[in-house]
Formats: sequence, C-alpha cells, structure tokens
Amino acid sequence: MTVTSTTSEGTAVHPEGAVPERFLNEIIWAYDYGGRPKDWWPRKHDNILWYSKSDRWTFNLGGIDRIPYMVPGLVGPEKAARGKLPTDTWWMTIVPTNSRERTGYPTQKPIGLVDRILRASSNPGELVADFFCGSGTTGVAAKRLGRRFLLVDNNPAAFRITNERLSQEAEPAVALFDTD
Ligand SMILES: C[S@@+](CC[C@H](N)C(=O)[O-])C[C@H]1O[C@@H](n2cnc3c(N)ncnc32)[C@H](O)[C@@H]1O
Repeated sequence: MTVTSTTSEGTAVHPEGAVPERFLNEIIWAYDYGGRPKDWWPRKHDNILWYSKSDRWTFNLGGIDRIPYMVPGLVGPEKAARGKLPTDTWWMTIVPTNSRERTGYPTQKPIGLVDRILRASSNPGELVADFFCGSGTTGVAAKRLGRRFLLVDNNPAAFRITNERLSQEAEPAVALFDTD
C-alpha cells in the first residue's frame, strides 16, 4: 500500500517498479482542512494505491469498519444501525491540531486511516512493514490490532516519537531500525 500525492494535473501515478496488473484499487483519502485558494478547487485528498504481490491477496470484508448511510431513513432501522461498507473514497479528517493523537510530527497520518487498511489487508499475527514510518502510526495501529510490525525511518525525530508512542501502548513493543 502506497500513499502518494497527486500530480499538478490531479492524477495518480504508479510508483516506479510497480506491476500494473497487480494494481487493485486507487483509494481517495479526502479531508477538509486549511485554507482555500481562490483560483482552483482546493486540493484536499491523497491517493492510496493498493497493489498485490501475487494473484492472491487478503481482503477481510467482515473486519472493515462501517460508515453511516448518507440517508439512513431510506434503508430501514436495522441497516441504518449496522452502517455500510466504505467505497474507494474515504472521508477522514487529518489529525486535528488539538487532539490527543497529535504527536507534532508534520506528516503524521490519522490512526483511523491505517487501522482501516490493516483490518482489511492483514490478519492477526501477520507482519506489517512500514519503511517510512514517520511518527509510527502504522506500528500503533498494528499493535492495537494484534499484528507484528517492522518500522523504519531515517529521521531521528521519527525514531524518538515512534518509540514514545509505542511505549504508551499497553504492551510496549519495539522493532525499530534506524537506516543510518
Ligand atoms: C509521509 S512520512 C510518513 C508519516 C507516517 N505515516 C506517520 O503517520 O507519521 C514519510 C517518512 O519517510 C521518511 N523517509 C524519507 N526518505 C527515507 C529513506 N530514504 N529512508 C527511510 N525513511 C525515509 C521521512 O523521514 C518521513 O518520516
């Protein structure tokens, strides 16, 4: 799973080395934060590209968090209470500046975003690797979901913040390597 920025034309590009036939989804992570330019539509989304390494992949439909129906009155109380599965467009706020989740790491991703990815695409006990872990969001989400994890970053601040975050989790676990 790769999170990439949009190009100036607004289209996603496959990372170098990616195998196009193993491409499964482009997920739009849409958020709404910060200023609004006056000359074009505000660019408020990231593109998450999902590839599979082989022709078999994990997709845990039953484990995915559900979201409210847009018009719950149209689907009946039972369905409305259960919610619906998300599509390939995910509306999720960035980490709010005043939230407890906030670490101060500038590119920190919200835990809910990574949580959904890991629930869908991994099983308990499996190994999740993030070679650009930043503030360690993937490690925290993996730990909470009972996945093992391997985290790497070449920024000393990422190393420090990730260790702090993980030490606050119920059962501290460290599998962290500095690339220097
Ligand atoms: C977008 S941030 C990751 C944010 C992370 N998902 C989080 O929630 O905090 C990308 C990270 O890649 C790291 N990085 C960039 N180049 C790297 C490299 N060559 N080796 C290891 N880490 C690298 C940066 O230090 C940065 O922390």
